[in-house]
Amino acid sequence: MRAAQIHACGEPPVVAERPAPVPGPGEVLVEVLAAPITPLDLLCATGTSYFGTPPTPYVPGVQGVGTTGGRTVWFPTTAGMAPGDGSMAELAAVRESELVELPPGADPVAVAALGLSAVAAHQALGRRGGLEAGEQVIVLGAGGTVGQAAVQLARLAGARRVVAAARSATARERAARAGADAVVPLDTDDVGELAARFSAVLDGPADLVLDPLFGVPAAAAARVLRPGGRLVNLGGSASETSPIDSSTLRGRSLSLLGYTNNELTPGRRAAAITEIAEHSAHGRLSVVHETIALDDAGSAWRRQAVGAPSGRIVLSVR
Ligand SMILES: NC(=O)c1ccc[n+]([C@@H]2O[C@H](COP(=O)([O-])OP(=O)(O)OC[C@H]3O[C@@H](n4cnc5c(N)ncnc54)[C@H](OP(=O)(O)O)[C@@H]3O)[C@@H](O)[C@H]2O)c1
Repeated sequence: MRAAQIHACGEPPVVAERPAPVPGPGEVLVEVLAAPITPLDLLCATGTSYFGTPPTPYVPGVQGVGTTGGRTVWFPTTAGMAPGDGSMAELAAVRESELVELPPGADPVAVAALGLSAVAAHQALGRRGGLEAGEQVIVLGAGGTVGQAAVQLARLAGARRVVAAARSATARERAARAGADAVVPLDTDDVGELAARFSAVLDGPADLVLDPLFGVPAAAAARVLRPGGRLVNLGGSASETSPIDSSTLRGRSLSLLGYTNNELTPGRRAAAITEIAEHSAHGRLSVVHETIALDDAGSAWRRQAVGAPSGRIVLSVR
């Protein structure tokens, strides 16, 4: 079978023929249709992630969509986080208990593009962030995959106003297309200035911040939360640290929360994917993506590494 393989950590994958995987106990063989290239795939393949250095060679891809036994399924893998191969190949051996059957009408590429990024947005808003209908939400990094999904999911959950923030003009356009009521440019490192921009487009203090960025944007958004407001951080795309000040945090008894998909049970993950795929099938949820042939995985990976893709890259495997 054709497969993309990481031969050395820090290097992009190389596509070549290799033997088909042999399913172990409890596993089935999935014929892969679509596999996204995500920040997590790149992080794991650096060999410097908190999961440790993966043994090489390995097939990357922590998730994908494919067919098995006549069903179209979304599936997770632990590629790069534990020994074993992932989704960027014609065939993947996957634990049967972790397959999630897609509803009729769901497009495999669109669901692969949403995948675990949309799961993170869904869980960080709902389970972790406690979003309730009628609340006002700020979504940072709203042109990214997590952010676009979060804007739409906040709306679907009944948020009364969704204020987005994004860096590039393209990202701001995506946030607006996702349905944000207002979009704030992230083009300053001045926390006070950014907080003033948020206040100007909010309808009073915000209830919840969805934050894949941290850094200055998170510090500014925290300043416009109401007493008892919540900020859920799920990524550090802007910075590993944030100048959130103590007076903001304690003065309004804010809840500063973290979220990771790694804590999700397979059951919760499956329920989230099912809901996301239902929304996708009914045209209520989508993220900008581009489809690239598996054979071009190496160049696509390089573009993802420098932040150049126009939306989530999804490898089309068949
Ligand atoms: N905790 C979890 O379980 C979980 C799950 C999924 C993702 N994540 C994390 O969430 C983050 C976003 O993931 P994603 O899938 O949405 O990635 P993505 O689609 O690659 O989007 C990343 C976004 O971050 C923005 N960005 C990068 N550096 C920035 C900066 N210095 N200031 C402002 N914006 C900046 C980019 O803006 P431009 O478009 O303007 O370049 C882009 O829109 C990543 O850190 C990822 O690891 C966490």
